Amino acid sequence: MEDTRNQNMQPGLEDRVVKALIQRSQKAKDFAYCPYSKFRVGAAVLTVDGSFFTGCNVENAASNLGICAERVALSKAVSEGHQRFKAIAIASDLKDDFISPCGGCRQFLIEFGSQWNVYLTKPDGSHRCMAVEALLPAAFTPEDIQKEKKEEEKAQSVDNYG
Ligand code: THU
Repeated sequence: MEDTRNQNMQPGLEDRVVKALIQRSQKAKDFAYCPYSKFRVGAAVLTVDGSFFTGCNVENAASNLGICAERVALSKAVSEGHQRFKAIAIASDLKDDFISPCGGCRQFLIEFGSQWNVYLTKPDGSHRCMAVEALLPAAFTPEDIQKEKKEEEKAQSVDNYG
């Protein structure tokens, strides 16, 4: 059953596409490598040109080296030339909660735009959809880096030409 408390949801994803995306995230979860937490997560991203990429969490004995499912899926997409996304679905085994991305993953998502959709799901396929920007308000983004560069350039040109 669909949760209707959608926040800042972007238009345009047909129900069947949402379903396909969620199913892919659930399948990806089956590959989770999580011997330490035993907490399986899967993710699937949809690019603007209609390609899907999936990921699962991959843990490590050196625990800080583990990586979340969302980052695996996004990195797979980016490493194959895709940087523009419509949506990501996240799946876990939590029956009573919509799985929500960790803070680091929120930052990873907003790197590629603030206005695309994140489907937080339950194993029964029900979901809650939120825009990336709703998950990370007052974010530090690539635009902020650009601002900094522009300030430097301005200062530089004053130095050079008075
Ligand atoms: N995990 C994810 O893969 N995505 C999330 O959004 C939340 C947490 C993983 C990291 C770790 O392998 C396990 O879940 C428990 O934290």
